[in-house]
Amino acid sequence: MNWKPLIILVSALATVSVRADEKALIAKGKVLFMTKICFTCHQTDPAVPAPAGLALKAPTFLGEFWGAEREVALGFGGKVVKVKLDEKYFAESVKMPMAKVVKGALVPMPPPPPPITDEDIAALMAYVKSLSKPQVK
Ligand code: HEC
Repeated sequence: MNWKPLIILVSALATVSVRADEKALIAKGKVLFMTKICFTCHQTDPAVPAPAGLALKAPTFLGEFWGAEREVALGFGGKVVKVKLDEKYFAESVKMPMAKVVKGALVPMPPPPPPITDEDIAALMAYVKSLSKPQVK
C-alpha cells in the first residue's frame, strides 16, 4: 500500500489544528490584554495612544519589537544589562515586573491584577508576539 497520500493528509490536518490552537490562544490573549489593562500602558496600534503608558514611558508594542534588544536595570535603579524581548523575559516581565526594569521608564511596571496564570501569560505572549511586524510607513 502507498502510505504517502495518507501521511500528507495527516500532516496537513495537524498543521491546520496547530494554526487553530494558535489562533484561539491569540484571541484569548487579546481579551486578557484588555481585561488585565495592559492596553492602558502598552500601545499596540499606531493610531491609538496608551495615555498611562505615555506618562510612564512604558515600552510600546509597535513595529518589529519581538526579539529586539533593550537595556534593563536589575531591579529599579540597579545594574544595567542588555536583554532580548523573548519568551522568558516576557513571562518574567509580567510575573515579576520589578526584576528587570526597562531603561528610560519612569517607574517599574505595576504587577497585573491577579489572578494571572501561566496559561494567561502564554496567551498574552502569543497575542503580543503576533503584533510584532515590520513597520509599514
Ligand atoms: C500602569 C502601566 C502598565 C500596565 C497596566 C502594564 N504595563 Fe507592562 N510595562 C509598564 C512599564 C512602565 C514598563 C517598563 C518598566 C519595566 O520594565 O518595569 C513595562 C514593561 C513591560 C514589558 C517589558 C517590555 C520591554 O519592551 O522590555 C512587558 C513584556 C510588559 N510590560 C507586559 C505587560 C502586560 C502583558 C501587561 C498586562 C498584563 C502589562 N505589561 C501592563 C507599564 C505597564
